Amino acid sequence: MPDTTFGPNGWTPERLGNLDNKTYLITGANAGAGFQAARTLLKKNAKVVMLNRSVEKSQGAVAELKKEFGSDANVSFVRMDLASLASVREAAAEILKTVTRIDALICNAAIAQVPTRKLTVDGFESQLGTNHYGHFLLCGLLFERIEASKGRVVVVASLGYNMGLKTIKFDDINWDKGYGPNTAYSQSKLAQMMFAYELQEKLASAGRADVEVNVCHPGSSATSLISTSGSRTMRFIWWLMTKTPMVQTAEQGAYPEVMCATEDGLEQRALYGPTGRMEAVGPVGRGTLNPHAYDKPVMTKLWDVSEEATGFTWGL
Ligand SMILES: NC(=O)c1ccc[n+]([C@@H]2O[C@H](COP(=O)([O-])OP(=O)(O)OC[C@H]3O[C@@H](n4cnc5c(N)ncnc54)[C@H](OP(=O)(O)O)[C@@H]3O)[C@@H](O)[C@H]2O)c1
Repeated sequence: MPDTTFGPNGWTPERLGNLDNKTYLITGANAGAGFQAARTLLKKNAKVVMLNRSVEKSQGAVAELKKEFGSDANVSFVRMDLASLASVREAAAEILKTVTRIDALICNAAIAQVPTRKLTVDGFESQLGTNHYGHFLLCGLLFERIEASKGRVVVVASLGYNMGLKTIKFDDINWDKGYGPNTAYSQSKLAQMMFAYELQEKLASAGRADVEVNVCHPGSSATSLISTSGSRTMRFIWWLMTKTPMVQTAEQGAYPEVMCATEDGLEQRALYGPTGRMEAVGPVGRGTLNPHAYDKPVMTKLWDVSEEATGFTWGL
């Protein structure tokens, strides 16, 4: 049954009020859904800080946004490469120095469908390292500021969590054996979701109710995700798909993450996204969440493994 909370058109940015006292951090906001989320928030006078890996692309994105919203638009960037724990630490230190409140940290950046196995500088399989460990560390380092702001953590997941192994391959988490672009991507997105659901539980049992953790996905949206990291074949298949109604615009793909950063009264253990055909397109609301995403023993173990891998202890 599609979620009808927000009416037949689902959640849309028309629900947003003035956001002029709010600050949103978005990872990977120079392109795709992250860029569109920045646009939508800026349109409502929010302050947006992007955390991007490319200085050049960031400067281009800031220039484009200032062109659209005027030179006073409150948008800036901090360089951060999620594939490097040192870079994440540097960026977090910079944020803690310069950004006094965080209403939401939107964990949006990702790479997908990397054709051959690659490792990050820290030796992690590239999708797990970038999508999960990088964000795990970033959220941990910024958590106090988010909590002091009564803010949110928004995890941008993927329906890909339903593909691949549907669990974490603890005996070979970096895919020394049996690497597949899609299975490794699916594991990384499942890991991000498990991080979010485990964080909710840890906060609830510690009685720390000031931070909301919301999980969403953009459905199938015409962004640069596959063209950035996918194989030539995948890029061609994706390009064909974008010509069909099975894929929506990047702007629509940003609605779930903007909703999760701003809308009150959302369910915690939930997955928000499009509720139309195959939950890949259409009105945004609460979608289906399959229980392997909150398999407690796996979530707990993944938390410990992630603390060990990143060298960061949350103290929760
Ligand atoms: N598009 C879809 O249909 C779809 C479906 C399911 C889930 N998602 C999820 O939606 C989110 C947004 O993706 P998108 O589709 O908008 O893709 P996108 O257009 O490729 O944007 C991804 C962003 O992440 C950045 N990024 C990649 N690696 C990074 C790193 N190491 N450090 C910092 N930033 C990095 C990219 O920077 P560069 O420009 O420098 O590459 C880009 O800004 C992702 O979490 C993705 O998994 C997308």
